[in-house]
Amino acid sequence: MKRIIVVGGGPGGYVAAIRAAQLGAEVHIVEVEAMGGTCLNVGCIPTKALLHTAELYSQLQHGKSIGLKADKVSIDWPALQSRKHAVVNKLVKGVESLLKANKVIIHRGSAVLKDIKTVEISGTEPKLITADAIILAVGSEPVQIPFPGADLTGVIDSTGALSLPKVPESMVIIGGGVIGVEFADLYSSLGCKVTVVELLPEVLPAVDVEIAGLLKQQLAKRGVSFMTGAKLTAVRHSVSGLTASITVDNKTVEIGAEYVLVAVGRKPRTAKIGLEELGVKMERGKVMVDKNFSTNIPGLYAIGDCNGQIMLAHAASAQGIAAAEHIMGHAAAYFANTIPSCIYTSPEVAGVGLTEEQVKQNEMEYKFGKFSLGGNGKSIIENGGIGLIKIIAGKKYGEILGVHMIGPRVTDMIAEAALAIRLEATVDELISTIHAHPTVSEAVGEAALAVEEMAIHWPPRVQRN
Ligand code: NAI
Repeated sequence: MKRIIVVGGGPGGYVAAIRAAQLGAEVHIVEVEAMGGTCLNVGCIPTKALLHTAELYSQLQHGKSIGLKADKVSIDWPALQSRKHAVVNKLVKGVESLLKANKVIIHRGSAVLKDIKTVEISGTEPKLITADAIILAVGSEPVQIPFPGADLTGVIDSTGALSLPKVPESMVIIGGGVIGVEFADLYSSLGCKVTVVELLPEVLPAVDVEIAGLLKQQLAKRGVSFMTGAKLTAVRHSVSGLTASITVDNKTVEIGAEYVLVAVGRKPRTAKIGLEELGVKMERGKVMVDKNFSTNIPGLYAIGDCNGQIMLAHAASAQGIAAAEHIMGHAAAYFANTIPSCIYTSPEVAGVGLTEEQVKQNEMEYKFGKFSLGGNGKSIIENGGIGLIKIIAGKKYGEILGVHMIGPRVTDMIAEAALAIRLEATVDELISTIHAHPTVSEAVGEAALAVEEMAIHWPPRVQRN
């Protein structure tokens, strides 16, 4: 029987372990903290638990417009924190029981590679285990930038921002990426004055420009201030708690805030686990892998955030399955072009495939269609019709190259677009797929119709004669 050691119990590692066990391997998994990794413990799940309540609260604040009288609604922060813990604990326990049900052997402690087949596990009972293959799934950690005051109390990262003692009065967020905007949405919805400071000319640089702009507009309406092309130079103590000095347009602006949240990206957590000693090929901390997620050392694989390809939980899980299947002698299927990206703000943002900017950069011939959710009944009911769906397709054959959405429920709706790309579907095939009415998803069909200038629920771009 093949023996496999998986190092790390996040959505990459635990999924790889279960898949390898399904295929008949003796699987060992090593985890130093709770099972579930960043995603379950201090990432996707706790943020979404908080965002869910924040969105309901925000809707109730504007209840009159939807026929609700809710004058005395308030946030019970300790109860919300308890609920967040309860959700996380339920899922962590669920992962542990799934591992046990698949006969995966769990080791508590931190792992270091001793040679290409041996892992040393330190902990209450240190031990060495050997295996035929090792899958590294050690994840990532927040990037820390150096600035005077970086170690002051109140300067926090995303983990700290999940467990504040109360809703703060004010917060400066450094970094207008995914973490930055999700926390801006969360705390502004709960009544905190939020300022987002982004180094680049626009927030969410990886997202379709029009969609990022629409989200920024919605957050600004809720009171979030944005400073772009702006750089944090220092943080110091002041009466309001902290003062952040920001350089923008060659001027220094000072902003007082209770907290300064630094969210400028994440980096692989690959130091001090024996990789350099074994000659594992790395670049700026990222473990280099081939299409099967194998490193330059035979039998050693690296999946998820630690290979730095794409830092998303569902990508890590898919890579874990591919690596386990490759080790067990199967041909693995991994289609990176079908990995959706989702942002859980209100409205939500989701995208899959190429953006229009990328298509232009690659000098590809394309056509596109856009449909405003102002023409979709269910969206008007849910959020007043704020949102947009954009489909980008090859000019000659109409194959779907990318789909980008902002609006209610789009993080669920993006699955249809991912499947369309996986099946190499064309605009015609999206058009001839019948979408239920009334749903937000009808707008996908309308956006496909718009590619061919045939949208039904939006006036024609050029007036008919
Ligand atoms: P990010 O890479 O999404 O954004 C970081 C932002 O900080 C960028 O816009 C960058 O230009 C900016 N920046 C960098 N240095 C700066 C500086 N000195 N001053 C001001 N701005 C600066 O990284 P983020 O938001 O920290 O997220 C980390 C990872 O976690 C990402 O890979 C993200 O995709 C993932 N994540 C995914 C979520 C989801 O799928 N919903 C939720 C949260 C995180």
